[in-house]
Amino acid sequence: MQITEKIQQYKPGLLEAIGLILFLLIIASCKHDIPIRVIEPPVDGGEQTCSADTVYFQNKVLPLLNSSCAMSGCHDDITHKDGVNLSTYGNIMATGGVRPGNPTNSKLYKVLNETGGDRMPPPPAAPFTQAQKDIIYKWILQGAKNNACNDCDTTVFTYAAAIAPLVSNYCKGCHNPASLGGGIDLSTYAGVKAIAQNGKLMGSIRHQAGFIAMPQGGTKLSECKITQFQKWVDAGAPNN
Ligand code: HEC
Repeated sequence: MQITEKIQQYKPGLLEAIGLILFLLIIASCKHDIPIRVIEPPVDGGEQTCSADTVYFQNKVLPLLNSSCAMSGCHDDITHKDGVNLSTYGNIMATGGVRPGNPTNSKLYKVLNETGGDRMPPPPAAPFTQAQKDIIYKWILQGAKNNACNDCDTTVFTYAAAIAPLVSNYCKGCHNPASLGGGIDLSTYAGVKAIAQNGKLMGSIRHQAGFIAMPQGGTKLSECKITQFQKWVDAGAPNN
């Protein structure tokens, strides 16, 4: 039988009609969940040493947004609540209401200063500290670029100079008393020491089998940063 004949003979029946309606219903209900496909622009820099006057997106802004906003159930790839996905540069620029050079008219900055349930991150999470708000403000003011600098030095691995800032940047947003990921509090030295000693710190940041990969949903830490953690653990995880 010719294909044309088949087509002519084809008469949609009840089953096909129901199938079509179901299909359309599924499409309609999923519409909000289809992720916006964005093109990730290349990172600018990454090799040069950091300038004190510049806020670098990859070093400061992304870790902050990943650990305070892009967690599951909020503004990650899967949930993207209110259409806002703060998981990557491309997504942040496409959905975060950033107006480069104009922080006070940028939604990403404005929501940090709202009150009640409109404030981000919403209660019971703690509001951003002034220093954290300044990071977002200055980055937008400086043009909201996808920039990076080399801020890592494997010869530095004391708790105060290396480990505490890394934990604060990459982990604390999900591991503090108001948001206890896995029941783990990394807002104090004692909490960080505990996971250093039970082996979970290195297992999780090295993405080893048998451990849950950290930072959850974010990019793996650079080898240099993992080395800083390793050297501190090897030194006995001191409070130095
Ligand atoms: C976006 C949120 C988020 C960030 C950022 C994050 N964590 Fe977690 N972490 C979690 C959650 C949630 C769990 C519990 C996961 C589970 O039980 O499924 C967890 C679990 C863990 C565990 C237990 C892993 C295991 O195998 O039992 C360790 C250790 C840990 N995190 C360390 C860290 C460290 C170190 C960082 C920073 C480098 C970090 N986390 C960053 C959310 C996060």
